[in-house]
Amino acid sequence: MKLVLASKNAKKLKEMNEILSGMGVEVCSQADIGVDVDVEETGASFEENSMLKAKAVMEASGLPAIADDSGLCVDALNGAPGVYSARYGGEGLDDAGRYRMLLANMPKDQPRTAKFVSVITCCFPNGDVLTARGECPGAIAFAAMGEGGFGYDPVFFLPKLKKTFAQLSPEEKNAVSHRGKALEAFQVKLEEYLK
Ligand code: IMP
Repeated sequence: MKLVLASKNAKKLKEMNEILSGMGVEVCSQADIGVDVDVEETGASFEENSMLKAKAVMEASGLPAIADDSGLCVDALNGAPGVYSARYGGEGLDDAGRYRMLLANMPKDQPRTAKFVSVITCCFPNGDVLTARGECPGAIAFAAMGEGGFGYDPVFFLPKLKKTFAQLSPEEKNAVSHRGKALEAFQVKLEEYLK
């Protein structure tokens, strides 16, 4: 079965295929099927944005479409950057600029606990919808560490593993990450749906 990914993030595509290929699901990019949809993420929740993206790409392609809306929620910042994770600090920043800004904005005297959240939505052309949510608790490191992954990975520290996401191999990250957990839950729902 082929699902179109409602994102242009090549690293998300890779992570999704690593996890879903085991059950014979191939996730392809919009470019692979000649569709180019940019969805404005106007929702107030990961659920809303995930649905907006999957529905728009399903409608444009006529194929089942899968979206992940994800972000980092920091307790000391009242859940920010949250749904604004990709745009934190404004459009001009790259990944490193965003995590540096996050480090600079961390209050000195408060716990550094945080969580990554991922909500997966899959919209089918017949109107059916599957959703799954995954969370990964951790903490904001005091400095960036590691070269792997993307986004805020170098500053997201896992106390149990004593490493940031960026210091894990792809397999190690997928085993504990928000997206890994959401995709695992999604896989169970998809298997049930396809029976
Ligand atoms: P989305 O594409 O709207 O879901 O944006 C999610 C944003 O959250 C990304 O641009 C990253 O900044 C951040 N993010 C989501 N998942 C991860 C992850 O696994 N590692 C690091 N950053 C992530």
